[in-house]
Amino acid sequence: MTALLQVDDLTLDLGDTPILRGVSLAVRPGEALGIVGESGSGKSMTLRTVARLLPDSARTGGAVRVGDRDVLGLRGRELREHRRGLGMVFQDPRSAINPVHTVGAFLVERARDAGQDTAAAREQALTVLRRMGMTDPERRMRQHPFELSGGLLQRVMIASVLMERPRLLLADEPTTALDVTTQADVLALTDELRREMGAALVLVTHDLDLASAVCDRIAVMYGGRVLETAPAATLRDDAVHPYTRALLASRPPLDQRLTEIPVAPGSPVPAAQTGPGCPFVDRCPVALPICGSALPEERLVGASRVRCHRVEEVA
Ligand SMILES: Nc1ncnc2c1ncn2[C@@H]1O[C@H](COP(=O)(O)OP(=O)(O)OP(=O)(O)O)[C@@H](O)[C@H]1O
Ligand SMILES: [Mg+2]
Repeated sequence: MTALLQVDDLTLDLGDTPILRGVSLAVRPGEALGIVGESGSGKSMTLRTVARLLPDSARTGGAVRVGDRDVLGLRGRELREHRRGLGMVFQDPRSAINPVHTVGAFLVERARDAGQDTAAAREQALTVLRRMGMTDPERRMRQHPFELSGGLLQRVMIASVLMERPRLLLADEPTTALDVTTQADVLALTDELRREMGAALVLVTHDLDLASAVCDRIAVMYGGRVLETAPAATLRDDAVHPYTRALLASRPPLDQRLTEIPVAPGSPVPAAQTGPGCPFVDRCPVALPICGSALPEERLVGASRVRCHRVEEVA
């Protein structure tokens, strides 16, 4: 099936700083893709490029297509239409919701913007809130954002986004600010609802377990590049790239999810500080001299697409 989102050899520079290098991804209609990787690897910038929410200093190369739209070339009205077809969810719901209005006013306004009359909008808001696991949605609709916990407010945000029936949902660490059990609940409900509605999902997260719980496939980013892409189950059980393996090995036990445990000795490098070879070379336990001098081609190993000179030995 043709992809809904197709990213080909994307590069992004902000001023003189390289941020993304040769990023390629594809998401089919209704599919969920996770993007995981340590801080600074370029996950958020990849999402922002798809939504064309970039600073003025941004220069892009390669191609991003959503449906039949060439996203990097859009301007004016077409760009606004493109953004309207996307649902976007970020980490902090409080920054995206007007604190003065009630939850109900917020939801009804969003649905009216999408063309519904007030009564239908209200009904739909109640239904979607209930589906997002909220008890007593009538009462919630009368409340103001400050009266809701972060977890409840994020459910409201996600409900508002899904009510607009986006073809593509872009979620950047949507549950990172919530406690661990709430994270899994909110993501599972979001995933169920968006699957029913036929919306595709790109989920950016630090958390590989969370990503594999809801995503069909996962892309692993490091230093502005995608190093491995694989079906979620393959990645969990048969990861190929040494970086993916390091990420898996460093997962904290479930009850300590909030403590930072280093993935590999050293710290992650941004794209700006990587050389011509594999960005992970300085931290890789199996690196050879060639790994620092030449970028590995992307190769298919089992069900994984992977960039690593050592694939034969590692796999
Ligand atoms: N406005 C900016 N100007 C210059 N560099 C930036 C800007 N925003 C982000 N960067 C750099 O771009 C790189 C990628 O950042 P990005 O926000 O995509 O990382 P990330 O993978 O989302 O990390 P995190 O997990 O911390 O959110 C980082 O090195 C970051 O420092
Ligand atoms: Mg980010």
